[in-house]
Amino acid sequence: MQGPERDKPETKTASGAASGDGSAATYDFMVVSNRLPVDRCAPGEHGDDGSGWRRSPGGLVTALAPMMTKTDGAWVGWHGAPDETVTPFSHGGMDLVPVQLSTDDVELYYEGFSNATLWPLYHDVIAPPEFHRTWWDSYRKVNRRFADAVVRHADHGATVWVQDYQLQLVPRMLREARPDLRIGFFNHIPFPPPEIFAQLPWRQAIIDGLLGADLVGFQRSSDAGNFMRSARRFLGASVKQQQVHVKGQNGDITHIARAQAFPISIDVRQVTELANKPEIIERARQIRQDLGNPKTILLGVDRLDYTKGIRHRLKAYEELLNEQKLTVGDATLIQVASPSRERVEQYRLLREEVEGTVGHINGTYDTIENTAVRYLHHSYPIEEMVALYLAADVMLVTALRDGMNLVAKEYVTARTGNDGALVLSEFAGAADQLKQALLMNPHDIDGLKDAVMRAVNMSPKEAARRMRSMRKQILDHDVDHWSADFLHALNEKVVRDDS
Ligand code: F6P
Repeated sequence: MQGPERDKPETKTASGAASGDGSAATYDFMVVSNRLPVDRCAPGEHGDDGSGWRRSPGGLVTALAPMMTKTDGAWVGWHGAPDETVTPFSHGGMDLVPVQLSTDDVELYYEGFSNATLWPLYHDVIAPPEFHRTWWDSYRKVNRRFADAVVRHADHGATVWVQDYQLQLVPRMLREARPDLRIGFFNHIPFPPPEIFAQLPWRQAIIDGLLGADLVGFQRSSDAGNFMRSARRFLGASVKQQQVHVKGQNGDITHIARAQAFPISIDVRQVTELANKPEIIERARQIRQDLGNPKTILLGVDRLDYTKGIRHRLKAYEELLNEQKLTVGDATLIQVASPSRERVEQYRLLREEVEGTVGHINGTYDTIENTAVRYLHHSYPIEEMVALYLAADVMLVTALRDGMNLVAKEYVTARTGNDGALVLSEFAGAADQLKQALLMNPHDIDGLKDAVMRAVNMSPKEAARRMRSMRKQILDHDVDHWSADFLHALNEKVVRDDS
């Protein structure tokens, strides 16, 4: 499965070497992310089309796949298997350019610097970030490899959209190697305040890396503000409104990087269509029946990550059972915790703690017939997720810090009957858009318990009023709007703001 072969002049890589790949296909639109938008799959597995790959779930792929097929586009990313070289190939109409990662790269760049340094640092240091020079060296090296792949495959003047915290050095590397490119970057996770970002020994290099972009997108305007304050504080950059005037060695302005919020969303059409399908509605009914038709089903759906506030949620729920405000039989909590980053120490510890707590709650409150917590350490296809959303009366999103939280948006979208209630952490980006959710601070366990009980006892009239308003917000702002808005802003002519 090779990508299309087209003529291409010899180019320089971001590291300055000739690519030596004179026949590589080139593209005028490129997306770059740590992972390619496909996963390996075995014959007969869900999503198998006989190619050995299936499209990954998630809004980003849905938003960008049509652009890949309509325009002359390609996606650059890791294919998920360490030490394996995969040549460029096409899947579902998308041209894919795989980047190879060795076992060491996975350990140092991905599990190490990306997920044990940056991830906790950018999420309010909920877990302590670790700073290791070997991890940083690997992060730089792997970022350069991604940049090289883009340089090899980008047409003159191409638009390149780099995604997320694993690749923050790529914009600067691209600008140096290929000043002809239009470079966008989107940070899917929060950007911390300068007081926390200050801890990073390589803070200047990260800011400088991001400032290689023409447009740096964030989930919340507070993230964009944090970034601009860091640019001013750590690089002495001149910041005007949403613009950072980036200076070269001689002090002249080389370009203007803009920083702005573009809250990401979901594929509204897909979720709505599934929510209206008779077999999914029937599956939701079946789920309720299998749980003994309790009056209230509460639902949590998260990657098993310490940022998601699963421990706080369980604590609040256990106290409500203990105080008999909720009783097993009348209420059940379904907690889907999909496996994630399982080789990173903090994730292992979290799993032990969550599973210990669930065992304790169930041991104390279960009856022969009914369970307090139905805990599922699995990932499910979107069809099953929508059935769960339809089955659940109350959705609990209790993140301690979250860039956006698309589960909240999926739940609201699936509630086509304008019923159900969403308890939502004010520390999730989605709180900026879903103002009619029951917003709360998950550190305040009494406040969280109150919000859960308000959701459980909410009148159908109030639920409908809130849900209608939230649904309107999401229906008007789906993931296609997000990508179109970003790309429109990226390609806009920028007028320098000197005010
Ligand atoms: O939220 C950031 C993110 O990178 C998402 O884009 C992704 O779905 C999730 O974290 C899991 O990432 P991974 O399994 O690649 O570490």
